[in-house]
Amino acid sequence: MRLTCPAKLNRFLAVLGRRQDGFHELELVTTVLDQCLELQDVLEGETSDTFSLTLTGPTSTGLLADESNLVVKAWRLLEKEAGRTLNAHLKLEKRIPHGAGLGGGSSNAAQTLRLGNDLFELGLSQGRLLELAAELGSDVPLFVLGGTVLGLDRGERVFPLEPIPLEPLILVHPGLHVSTPGVYKALAQAGYPPVSPCPSLGRHGTPPWRNDLTQAAMFVCPELRNVQKAILDAGGDPLLCGSGSCWAGRFKSASDRDGALKHVQEKHPEWSVWAVG
Ligand code: C5P
Repeated sequence: MRLTCPAKLNRFLAVLGRRQDGFHELELVTTVLDQCLELQDVLEGETSDTFSLTLTGPTSTGLLADESNLVVKAWRLLEKEAGRTLNAHLKLEKRIPHGAGLGGGSSNAAQTLRLGNDLFELGLSQGRLLELAAELGSDVPLFVLGGTVLGLDRGERVFPLEPIPLEPLILVHPGLHVSTPGVYKALAQAGYPPVSPCPSLGRHGTPPWRNDLTQAAMFVCPELRNVQKAILDAGGDPLLCGSGSCWAGRFKSASDRDGALKHVQEKHPEWSVWAVG
């Protein structure tokens, strides 16, 4: 069995407050980027005598295939749910960079739940898969739904939205790793942004291009400003992806976008740049 694990783009991220449990109350509009083939991981699984996970692919360096891996955590949760050992060999080919705000690990976890459910015919409903996903991480349920998703609470309470077409975009990864807990923690030092929820969106309406984690992420990792500037210099409208380090740049037309992609690649050959939308 073989499943692809897409990346995601938070097109709107509002921080509405800090909760008693230390998490933050969010409002998110997120699109799963299932059209971008170069930005997908591939998860394969077959039944076996024991459980094992093998990691391959250009962005697997530094990742561990042990109990700390979200794929293994998702598998253990499925075993607990099934009440038995589920022996399988899993192979994960990584292309999505980690610590980039693109949701790679969360996407892997969601697809692991789906793969185990199908491979062992566990018969778990989508509702139950969403509950298990929420135990694994705030961003995992949105990948169970797919498409364009509204996320509330800590991001794990998800609702499907009508598709909102993506504008011509570039995604720029500067090769930096930014810690998500570190960015949330820095909100207090960088200053909480004014609380302002998403305006109601008409049918196919586009949410504001806004990420309330931007100042905190740049406080933690000042080099992020270089990527923001490169996108501005190329004529784009920059938006930090999640807690970083990737940025999206939005353009008026596909030809403007293609020109900008070339420009950024020439100026920064050490960065990875993808065209989306
Ligand atoms: O849920 P997840 O494990 O992905 O969250 C990682 C970390 O990000 C949390 O431990 C927390 O520090 C921070 N976080 C937060 N508020 C959220 C989501 C994540 O503070 N809504």
